[in-house]
Amino acid sequence: MRRYAIANWKMNLPPAGVDAYFERLRAPREASVVIAPPFPYLKEIAARATVAAQNCADQPSGAFTGEVSAAMIRDCGAKFAIIGHSERRNIFGENDAMIARKLALAIDAALTPVLCVGENQNVRDDGQAAAFVATQIKLTAVPQLERASEILIAYEPVWAIGTGRNATGAMVAEMAGHIRDASSRFWPAADVSILYGGSVTPENVGDLCENGRVDGYLVGGASLDPFKFSAICEGVAGLAET
Ligand code: PGA
Repeated sequence: MRRYAIANWKMNLPPAGVDAYFERLRAPREASVVIAPPFPYLKEIAARATVAAQNCADQPSGAFTGEVSAAMIRDCGAKFAIIGHSERRNIFGENDAMIARKLALAIDAALTPVLCVGENQNVRDDGQAAAFVATQIKLTAVPQLERASEILIAYEPVWAIGTGRNATGAMVAEMAGHIRDASSRFWPAADVSILYGGSVTPENVGDLCENGRVDGYLVGGASLDPFKFSAICEGVAGLAET
């Protein structure tokens, strides 16, 4: 089985510096440890670890100042691309149509996409979280999914990202079930692994691993500290078959 621990550094570098980070990071053999640094560091980090881009353009090439294509990302040595992170959706106005184009281009460039989905607090309070996430999956169904060797879907509830309020293992397990149903309905040919992200820490990774029924974690804040991220990787290494 696959087990993932993905570090999303966002627009940060580890405070201790990159060299110290990798000296201190302990990546167990049982976990696929992936680092998503800001774009300019992809090549440098790819020489030391498996890397993911945090985003890719929704066009293959052309006059799109400031954008980086999926093929360029692949050229820099990345194996994965995070697509549709809620910060991209909410701060930079990405919609599901753009995210579907990014997904298609990432697959065309032989990147494994990490598609982020998740509801905000209002949607959860209204009891619509499962339907909302299913719609996000439906709207990103592209023909390329049939050719992808693997797709990761990261359940990242907006209310849990960077807030210190993580979803519990039980909540994650429930949503992982809905995501499995929706992806087998709307993306029947795709080989899907499911991750959780949102305030994952060494303190809550035990409950998440024991009860969450997912294949790994996408970690923001805690991933900048090599000791904390190592502890999370250790939890991921012990994940049981989902
Ligand atoms: P967080 O971020 O761990 O800081 O909540 C997760 C993410 O945005 O992927």
